Amino acid sequence: EMGSVDAAKKAAAVKAVDEYVKNNFVLGIGSGSTIVYAVERLAERVKLENLSIVCVPTSFQARQLIIQHNLILSDLERNPKLDCAIDGADEVDAKLTLIKGGGGCLTQEKIVASCAKQLIIVCDFMKDSKALGEKYKKGVPIEVIPMAFVPVQRKIEEDLGGKAELRMAKQKAGPVVTDNGNFILDWIFPEKSYDWESTNTKIKMIPGVVETGLFVNMTHKVFYGMADGSVKEKS
Ligand code: A5P
Repeated sequence: EMGSVDAAKKAAAVKAVDEYVKNNFVLGIGSGSTIVYAVERLAERVKLENLSIVCVPTSFQARQLIIQHNLILSDLERNPKLDCAIDGADEVDAKLTLIKGGGGCLTQEKIVASCAKQLIIVCDFMKDSKALGEKYKKGVPIEVIPMAFVPVQRKIEEDLGGKAELRMAKQKAGPVVTDNGNFILDWIFPEKSYDWESTNTKIKMIPGVVETGLFVNMTHKVFYGMADGSVKEKS
């Protein structure tokens, strides 16, 4: 049987797909464990309602999900304009600022989201917080060009404080390598509250930084699956 967190993820994903996906949509497909339920529901609706949906993946995982469910796979060359992107998040604050990239897919996720009219987030109640860092304790993921990881680490620690830790692989001796062939730094930030827009800009300006997992002013709506099976919406 499904635990309450998985049931919550599924409830949020199903509701988001049912409310937001319309026929003939070009749809961004996010990454992570919650998005799996969204793709399952999408495949169900495509079959039942004979919908025509074109899917743009945000990762290797998303691409595989699209293929496995026999959905139509596209890319930003053929479809640079998306009607909607559905994705998960590691944490969502009161202003709907997100931390993403727990799974290392932040860069493609942000690019795809930036091409979509609406970014819809699906997550469970554990991700809902007042201020970033309250729930997700692993910091802000930052994708970096491999040869620059030490200078970027040092600049972040000197200019912003805290620690920027190179994310290490679990099943191999060495760093995690992203879908883009880069490394991930996880920035454990020292303060309780931040202006995330300017902090994001500061990090992005450091040479060698590809992208950050901070999604500021991008989210249209969040579906939070609750422990009791209900779904809470915020926009
Ligand atoms: C992937 O890199 C992340 O940005 C995911 O969107 C995020 O980690 C959410 O994943 P879960 O749905 O597994 O929590």
